[in-house]
Amino acid sequence: MAILKILTYPDPKLKKKSAPVEKIDKEIEKLLDDMAETMSDAPGVGLAAPQVGINLRVVVIDVSARQQDSPGLIELINPVIISTEGVQIEEEGCLSIPGFSSEVKRKAKVKVQGLDRKGKLFEYEGTGLLARAFQHEIDHIDGILYIGRLSRLKRELLKKKIEKALARAEV
Ligand code: NI
Repeated sequence: MAILKILTYPDPKLKKKSAPVEKIDKEIEKLLDDMAETMSDAPGVGLAAPQVGINLRVVVIDVSARQQDSPGLIELINPVIISTEGVQIEEEGCLSIPGFSSEVKRKAKVKVQGLDRKGKLFEYEGTGLLARAFQHEIDHIDGILYIGRLSRLKRELLKKKIEKALARAEV
């Protein structure tokens, strides 16, 4: 297993819509392993393949350190949200936008379907942080960052702050 480099905003690969996985082979299995290790090393509760420069619909999630009664590592290939319920507004961050967070409106409960590494179709239901992680990571494979889910005003303010921090880092 290997720890992969996590791309950060405004890398253009983060804005690209990812392609579905056509065949689950050794390379995809290795990608899942490396993504899980990269996520736990970061540490984070979720990671999507475009964040490590691979524009494929592959996601790993593990919220077990922060949410009781949640499954451990979840690996999802070609995930889709099949139903949603309610609304939650909580602080949200992203490994690709380090050092920042913002309140983001999300669905309170989601049902997700996707393939595991054996190609078996799985269904997961999540509330709270797990529901948030499903939505956040599936957004990533559609090329959407959480800042894209903010109101225009909040988004512009946060973008300015991020750009300022990036400019400082470059000096
Ligand atoms: Ni993220």
